[in-house]
Amino acid sequence: MVRFSFGAPVSDDNFFNREDELSYLEKRLFAIKAGSRNDIAMIGPRRVGKSSLALQMAGHARAKGFKTVFLDCEGLDFESFIKEYGNALLSAELEDRPDMKIREALRGGTVAAIAALSEILGRVSALELSAAFADFLKLRIELERERMTGKTPQSLRELLEATLSLPAKSSSKYVVVFDEFQETATYGLEKQFHAVFRRATQFQKNVVYVYAGSSVGMMEDVFGNKRNPLAGNADILGVVPFSEETSKRFLKAGFGSYGKSADKEALQVLWEGTNGFPAYLNWAGLRCVDFPGKNVSKDEAVRVIEEMASPLSPVYQSVEKQLGRLGRFSRLILRSMAQGNKTATTIATNVPKTNIYVYLERLRKYGLITKNEAGYKIIDPVIRRMVLNY
Ligand SMILES: Nc1ncnc2c1ncn2[C@@H]1O[C@H](COP(=O)(O)OP(=O)(O)OP(=O)(O)O)[C@@H](O)[C@H]1O
Ligand SMILES: [Mg+2]
Repeated sequence: MVRFSFGAPVSDDNFFNREDELSYLEKRLFAIKAGSRNDIAMIGPRRVGKSSLALQMAGHARAKGFKTVFLDCEGLDFESFIKEYGNALLSAELEDRPDMKIREALRGGTVAAIAALSEILGRVSALELSAAFADFLKLRIELERERMTGKTPQSLRELLEATLSLPAKSSSKYVVVFDEFQETATYGLEKQFHAVFRRATQFQKNVVYVYAGSSVGMMEDVFGNKRNPLAGNADILGVVPFSEETSKRFLKAGFGSYGKSADKEALQVLWEGTNGFPAYLNWAGLRCVDFPGKNVSKDEAVRVIEEMASPLSPVYQSVEKQLGRLGRFSRLILRSMAQGNKTATTIATNVPKTNIYVYLERLRKYGLITKNEAGYKIIDPVIRRMVLNY
């Protein structure tokens, strides 16, 4: 029985649907057992369920004997990426050793981190880690020391290469998920990060990489633009909202688990107000079950959908945070689109700016709008309503 949940990625009892995506992903994972590797780039707009899908897949992979690493790149700079990824790989490698509380020790500040890393280094062979881990640990300790003495780190590139090579030195099979991977496009090494990444990982036979990201255009650029080192390195899996049928099935199942049912019209209102975005379906579901009575009515559904885009709702706040990062013109363009304009020319009539195509392309890159035969369209129904207030 599925339960509604809003605010963080979901898995297991809160996870619904996505059978096709999961079976596609799992086929890729198991292909490496037969010696063929295919990485995947999971691309979709905000709040569509990418992280949840990646987590659920990682859970299945773990149950099938893979070691799994999940690294959220959001907010990580180059150095913290290297550190966090290294920490995650160490914890994965030592996860069967309950005496090794790696993550906690490494978070305890520089002195504690050096002590923890040195302890592992001293026990590399007893812990049955490969020699590559010893090299990695020495570089990590060196970096921590440089940081402690305020020196500019000399060894970052070497440490990055040592870290990226670790999973291939393991005797286990690995699934490595990088969430919000587009963030790495801005990393140091004079824009060579992806080139180094590719060189270090391309011949690894026991690792599948899954890259998830919400900046649709940036992800397409990283994996599709021939000038970029990772182009062609991953097959793209588009993550889209639930269909009408799935959305209604999800709501019914969710209501059922709270001992409730819903009118047909109520389900229709909830579908139209959420366009199948799982985050919105969950939030609306939770609000609907707050009403007394066993049946969700159409009026209640209408109230919930109205409330969803009002300033006090957490949905509003999450969307506002995303829109807050945009400039004024981008927001005016979105407003013009929400008013019903679909072509660049008509959109531009409400925007005092001439280079409309540059802005439209940027909004597409951020995953906020799509373009098809019918013209430009805002993907997210809550964004569509909120920008009307600008
Ligand atoms: N398969 C699913 N079944 C049920 N609910 C889901 C599912 N996937 C996502 N959700 C709902 O959507 C919300 C957002 O999911 P998630 O964080 O996975 O999306 P995301 O695409 O990674 O978003 P963001 O771009 O903001 O990181 C979850 O908190 C949950 O409420
Ligand atoms: Mg996410």
